[in-house]
Amino acid sequence: MRTQVAIVGAGPAGLLLAHLLAAEGVESVVVESRSEEYVAGRIRAGILEQSTVDLLRYAGLGDRLDREGDRHRGIHLQWPGERHHLDFVDLVGRAVHVYGQTEVQKDLVAARRAAGQQVVYEVGDTALHDLKTDHPSVTFTQDGEEQRITADVVVGCDGSFGPSRSALPSPSTWARTYPYSWLGVLADVAPSTDELIYAWHPDGFALHSMRSATVSRLYLQVPNGTAPEEWSDDRIWAALRDRLGHGQDGWAMTDGPITEKSVLPMRSFVQSPMRHGRLFLAGDAAHIVPPTGAKGLNLAVADVALLAPALVDLLRKDDTRLADAYSDTALRRVWRCTHFSWWMTTMLHTGGDPFDEQLQLSQLRWVTSSEAGATGLAENYAGLPIGF
Ligand code: DHB
Repeated sequence: MRTQVAIVGAGPAGLLLAHLLAAEGVESVVVESRSEEYVAGRIRAGILEQSTVDLLRYAGLGDRLDREGDRHRGIHLQWPGERHHLDFVDLVGRAVHVYGQTEVQKDLVAARRAAGQQVVYEVGDTALHDLKTDHPSVTFTQDGEEQRITADVVVGCDGSFGPSRSALPSPSTWARTYPYSWLGVLADVAPSTDELIYAWHPDGFALHSMRSATVSRLYLQVPNGTAPEEWSDDRIWAALRDRLGHGQDGWAMTDGPITEKSVLPMRSFVQSPMRHGRLFLAGDAAHIVPPTGAKGLNLAVADVALLAPALVDLLRKDDTRLADAYSDTALRRVWRCTHFSWWMTTMLHTGGDPFDEQLQLSQLRWVTSSEAGATGLAENYAGLPIGF
């Protein structure tokens, strides 16, 4: 098989890249080790930055997002006895949208299917070859048969465990693991809040998010190594009520049937450069952020928004300038989001150290009472412009 761009990974980064390239007349083939159903069913965060929403609309992928997504002006930040609303629209003129990654994925699959995009699911033994030449290739097995795609460029959108990341010979890497995880649940109950609540609590962080008017998404800080079975539904609701302040100033949390329960590890990881010859990396293949602040999908979209025009210039005009700048340009934003995700995480998660707790509370008071503090959070949360 021969194509212009071989894309490894059919998650949001890979499919959005295929979509943006096709709009400029560049053809691609996508390969994916998982099944279509598995990729579609993966539950991820649900907050889209303003620039992500703008890009999806520009790419013709905004119809259902505009109909079913929910625009939020800001978030609530709280600690025992106090809840404060930060209004991003007032502070920085940008909002966020609540629209699950699973929904973005469905829209991308439908759009690429309608356009006749070739996506090969459930491939095995994916390997990358000849990346330092102008005819790189990807080999894999499909139904037991060996296949090869020869291309002008290969893009790794295959996450932190895929083969693309390890195809770079000697990258620099930076990593941080955190001494806590999140227990995440989906519940069939109307959210008890209009906008998300991020709660600091001596027992640990809690987050009240949502997916729709009838589905709530909730998270609790738990120790590393926690198994979801250790948390009965009753125990989860009791902890959420305590940490989110049920009964404070008349606020009440409504519980309901829990339909999904899982534990998420938290880590930061950055790999540089994001290019090796004719291989480019985008999304989780190059960087991982802890979930606090919901930057993972937004960062993958920002990578792809930079990479698509760079590949179009490279392949259609033989102009290498944007492709040569891609890694450095993308990494500037990656490090901004890496810092922001680390900062939100360390401000909100408790570890039992009384000195740290006082620093966290002081930081929270500053962020919620000073316009300078609030603006810094709002600018990062609602998202910097794509070219930042
Ligand atoms: C969600 C996840 C996050 O990490 C976050 O900061 C906000 C929302 C979510 O899954 O809805």
